[in-house]
Amino acid sequence: METVVSGIRSTGNLHLGNYYGAIQNFVKMQHEYNCFFFIADLHSLTTHPTPANLHNNVKTVLVEYLATGIDPEQATIYMQSDVPETSELYLYLNMNAYLGELERSTSFKDKVRAQPENVNAGLLTYPVLMTADILLHRATKVPVGKDQEQHLEMARTFGNRFNRLYNHDYFPEPYAFSFSKNLVKIPGLDGKGKMGKSEGEGNAIFLSDSPEAIRKKVMRAVTDSGPATENQTKPEEIQNLFDLMKVVSTPDTIMHFDELYNKMQIRYGDLKKQLAEDVIIATTPIRERINDIANNAEYLRKVAQQGAEKARESASKTIKEVREIIGFRSF
Ligand code: TYM
Repeated sequence: METVVSGIRSTGNLHLGNYYGAIQNFVKMQHEYNCFFFIADLHSLTTHPTPANLHNNVKTVLVEYLATGIDPEQATIYMQSDVPETSELYLYLNMNAYLGELERSTSFKDKVRAQPENVNAGLLTYPVLMTADILLHRATKVPVGKDQEQHLEMARTFGNRFNRLYNHDYFPEPYAFSFSKNLVKIPGLDGKGKMGKSEGEGNAIFLSDSPEAIRKKVMRAVTDSGPATENQTKPEEIQNLFDLMKVVSTPDTIMHFDELYNKMQIRYGDLKKQLAEDVIIATTPIRERINDIANNAEYLRKVAQQGAEKARESASKTIKEVREIIGFRSF
């Protein structure tokens, strides 16, 4: 059976981008593949969280993972930091990841622009740690959103380079995966770019948001003054609202608003009201489960412990073989 690995950084609540870009695939894949879904708490150290924030964020992601329907009896759910083999493989892979290629990664360049005061080595080697996560279980499929595509390309480069260096066909090539035809990019509400936690207040809708909060955010989404001609191409901010509808609304609803737009009869207020209600319908069952699971400390402890054990079993097998391949052999 093919192995699947994916992770979410522990930086706080999950949003619709995480859900429709990645997690919806996790939920379906867990029944068909050997799945490892982890919480990337080592990756989140690049932003220097306080110990209390780190712990709370990890808990939030664990609770929300479970609330979306990832089943710890089907998939292995674990904390990245509970599997020290991750860090060991990261170290080995760092030895043949080159400065030039790391500096050229789009996400690194974005971070340098966004936080020039904190360009640490962890940010630079972020794709190497990601590669370690994936290769640790020798996974071939990695369910992620569109923004992670370049990281997967780097993971293939690093894995292939290891294989060549040691003349050993050990790591298979991992590929980004989505059940939809293309990898998904969920837009934010600010009229440009993707939905993301760090993209500014009001840009992201969280799975834990109350109906009231969802209505408020959606009603404030950026729009223009309306179409100037019939059947015109939609500007980005309007296309974004239609793209959000594509994941939460019925095809009839989308067609209805599309026709109104094309006939220049659209009222954005009506579209937003409908969009908000459809988001609420999609997220309400998850939100209700979040509240239940968050209060079940015993269950969370059991899930974390069981996940760490299963993940380490797989990871230690790989590390043992990798050490042998590299030449760390016992006397
Ligand atoms: P992170 O935590 O930024 O995002 C987690 C997942 O959500 C997807 N995603 C989106 N998809 C569509 N539209 C959006 N607006 C959107 N925003 C986020 C991301 O593509 C991702 O799949 N580096 C990773 C975490 C990671 C990882 C890994 C993933 C660490 N190691 C190994 C896969 C395999 C990250 O920062 O994701």
